[in-house]
Amino acid sequence: MEVARIIGGRELHGEVWVSGSKNACLPILVACLLTEEECIIENVPNLSDIRLILDILRNVGVNIEYIDTHTLKVCAAAINPHAPYDAVKKMRASVCLMGAFLGRIGRSSVSLPGGCIIGQRPIDLHIKGFKKLGCTVEMKNGYLEVDGSNMVGSRIFLGGRYGSTVTGTANVLMAALGAQGVTIIESAAYEPEIVDLCLFLRRQGAIIGGIGTSMLTIEGRHKLHGCRYRVIGDRVEAGTFICAALMTRGRITIRGNAQNVSSAVYDKLEEIGADVRELEDGTIVADGTKQNLRSTEIITLPYPGFPTDLQAQFCALLSCVDGISVVSERIYPTRFMHIPELNRMGASIMLEESHAIIHGSSSRKLTGAQLMASDLRASAALYLAGLCAENETLIHRIYHLDRGYENFDEKLRSLGANIERTTETDLERCELN
Ligand code: EPZ
Repeated sequence: MEVARIIGGRELHGEVWVSGSKNACLPILVACLLTEEECIIENVPNLSDIRLILDILRNVGVNIEYIDTHTLKVCAAAINPHAPYDAVKKMRASVCLMGAFLGRIGRSSVSLPGGCIIGQRPIDLHIKGFKKLGCTVEMKNGYLEVDGSNMVGSRIFLGGRYGSTVTGTANVLMAALGAQGVTIIESAAYEPEIVDLCLFLRRQGAIIGGIGTSMLTIEGRHKLHGCRYRVIGDRVEAGTFICAALMTRGRITIRGNAQNVSSAVYDKLEEIGADVRELEDGTIVADGTKQNLRSTEIITLPYPGFPTDLQAQFCALLSCVDGISVVSERIYPTRFMHIPELNRMGASIMLEESHAIIHGSSSRKLTGAQLMASDLRASAALYLAGLCAENETLIHRIYHLDRGYENFDEKLRSLGANIERTTETDLERCELN
């Protein structure tokens, strides 16, 4: 297995292009199932999660062709609405196949996803939405068998104890496209990734109102057609590079249509005194060269609140900022696997239930260590810590990172980072010699 070796302490300077958004691209690729015509999807990030969803789509009968590294031709002329466990278990985002199957042919048989290390990941709200549309839902041998042959548009409140659900909104939205009449989804998620999905569906001919708000109106039973669509830039990757500039005291220009970094993030950056500006064309300039950052409090919330997917990266950033910061995780209360690893590098962070109390310091340098990545965004936080730590950091299980960051090492190297990939075997061999 690959291991990242980072020699920290270098300022990162230069320009970087973020890839297409993983969390926009996944539901958009699945939404290609809603038409038998050909769709061309541009700015597809080259990630293991994307390759996974493509394998699942091929498995259900979709014809997929790479026009170039980041452009796909997708044609779901005939499909089999059955997604097997061994495919779904690897990536829970594949649950949104249910909505696409229902929207296209009115039935679905998809294995239930497991939980994952950041939380339980239930789909009770997805099921509630399907039932409100008139579907019958049955659990059989680990598969959710959904019959939506007589779906009728309905008014659906999709808010849960943690607020809105991103993939739940995608799922119910796509199912509603197959219902007779109009569906209204209240407390819908309106993250930029959901907006991108809605704009793609509209490009296919869907009639959707309220895009970008928490109330979506969907007219069902319109025949959808093929189209060409470009996925938005990845705002989480952009936010990660912003943290990299601030933590290494460098200056990074971030391009690639990532202008949907939410105001909640800019608000927090302003609060800590960071010099981060978004230019007219959406380019972001993060300048950490002349900074004297302050501590703050962050609470993760559904959009437009502070995104949970940047929580780990900001914990790493705030551990290098003077003062006590508090980071509260309201979406996935146990999403703190990065904290023990940051503490092993010399950070001083206490966990109190779903709150991280960070005793940050700009003078106490983090020190390199052997670390274990646990999930996608925690891996990014460990990379950031390694970049500003003294000496060498080795990060194991970085396959987690490759799920959501395309060519991350190369991008960091182009900014001046001293980073390379080695393997467990090579490391063992070095220890023996
Ligand atoms: C999406 O996950 C993203 N994944 C996650 O990004 C992101 O962290 C999350 O939204 C929140 O923004 C993709 O888009 C592929 P949710 P999703 O349904 O849709 C609870 C990353 O790092 N909930 O919005 O699965 C749930 O337990 C990934 O890129 C229910 O209770 O998240 C959670 O506490 C990680 N019942 C909260 O809602 C349900 O039926 C938000 O979950 C559904 C969700």
